[in-house]
Amino acid sequence: MIANNMVKALQGGSKIRKMFEEGNRLKSIYGVDNVYDFSIGNPDLEPPVEVKKALIDIANEDIPGMHGYMSNSGYESTRAAIAKKRSEESGLQIDASAVCMTVGAAAAMNDVLHSLLDPEDEVIVLAPYFMEYNGYIANHNGKVVICDTDEKFVPHAEDIKAKITSRTKAIIINSPNNPSGVVYSEQFLTELNDVLKAADHTIQVISDEPYIDLVYDGLTVPSALKFIDNLVICFSWSKSLSLPGERIGYTLVSPKNEDYNDLTAAIAISNRTLGSVNAPAIWQRVIERSLYAKVDVSNYENRRNQLYSNIVDAGFDAVKPQGALYIFMNTPQGLTDDEFADICHEENLLIVGGAAFAKPGYARLAFCVSEKTIQNSRKAFFAIADKLGIPHRSEL
Ligand SMILES: Cc1ncc(COP(=O)(O)O)c(C=O)c1O
Repeated sequence: MIANNMVKALQGGSKIRKMFEEGNRLKSIYGVDNVYDFSIGNPDLEPPVEVKKALIDIANEDIPGMHGYMSNSGYESTRAAIAKKRSEESGLQIDASAVCMTVGAAAAMNDVLHSLLDPEDEVIVLAPYFMEYNGYIANHNGKVVICDTDEKFVPHAEDIKAKITSRTKAIIINSPNNPSGVVYSEQFLTELNDVLKAADHTIQVISDEPYIDLVYDGLTVPSALKFIDNLVICFSWSKSLSLPGERIGYTLVSPKNEDYNDLTAAIAISNRTLGSVNAPAIWQRVIERSLYAKVDVSNYENRRNQLYSNIVDAGFDAVKPQGALYIFMNTPQGLTDDEFADICHEENLLIVGGAAFAKPGYARLAFCVSEKTIQNSRKAFFAIADKLGIPHRSEL
C-alpha cells in the first residue's frame, strides 16, 4: 500500500501524463508537423558548441579522482567561477561558499525548502506559478499560500503583505515567469524587500531563475541579488544551455542574507541527505568551462513572435511574454478551460489549462517546438476562432 500523499499525487499527475500520451498518439496518426503540441516545455535547441567541446576535452583529460565523491556543495573551482559571474552581474562581493551545486533547479528548491521549513510553515507563491512548487513544499511539510497577480500577471508587494502571517517562512518568485513570461521589475523587487524587512520575523525570498537568460526585445532581467537582502537563488542550466536531462544547477545564498552561515551549511547537508549527495561531477566541470555560453535566444524570440501573432491575429487575447518559453493566453469568454482545451484538441492543438498553474481562465502554450509546427498551427488558431465566432484581427 503506497502512502496517502502519493495516492493524491498520482491522481494529480495523470492529466499531464494523458496529454503527453495523447500528443504522441496524434503525431503517430497525422505526422509530427500536423499536430500542434504546445503542452510540454522541453527545450528543443541543441546546447551551444562550447558545451560539446568542454565535454569532449574533459573526457580526454586524465584528471585524478575525476569520478570520485566530493564536498556536498561541489567543486570549489566551479563554485568560485559562478560566484565571480554573479558578483560581476550584481556588484556584490560573492564568495564560493555562497554556492552549492545541485541536480537542477528542482533539487535546488528541495534543498532550500528542506533547510528552511518546519512542519506547517507557510510559503507564499505568486499565481500563476509552476505547479511543481506544490510538491516541493509538501515534501518538507510546508503549506502553500497563493497570492494572486494583476490582469497582466504583475505581482504587487501590498498583496503579498496581506498574505504574511507569523508562519510565513519564505516566498518563491520566478522571473521570467513560467507560465506568464513576465519579468519582475526593479520597483517590485524593491517594494517586496521593504515589505519583508518590515515583517516581525525573517522571511526568505527563494528566487527560482531557470529562465533568467531567456529574455527578449533586448530586455535584461533585474538581478534579485541587487534588490533583495534575505535571498536564495535556485538556478539551472536546463533552459539556458538546453541541458534538462543532465540535471545541473545551483543554489546561491546572498551575502546580504542574515542567515548566510546557517543557510549555506544547511543546504549542503540537505543536498546530501535528500539523496543527490553532490551534483554530477563531469557536468560541474563542463559548466565551469562554458559559464558564459547560452543557447541562441533569438531563435526562441522568433518563435515567440510567430506564435503570439497566430494567437492575436486569429482574434484571441494574450499578454506578450517578455521571457521564458510560454505564452499564457486568455481562455475565450464563456468557456471553461476544459471546454476550450477540447475545442483546440479537435484541431490537433494541445494546450494546458490555466488551472494547472493556479490561474483558471487561461491556457499555457510552450513555444519550444519547431518553427514549422508553429507556422502550420496558424490555420488551427483561425479555425478555432471561426468555430467560436471570434472575429479575426488579420488575414490567415
Ligand atoms: C519555473 C521552473 N522552476 C523549476 C524548474 C525545474 O527545472 P530543472 O530542470 O532545473 O529541475 C522548471 C522546469 O521546467 C521551471 O519551469
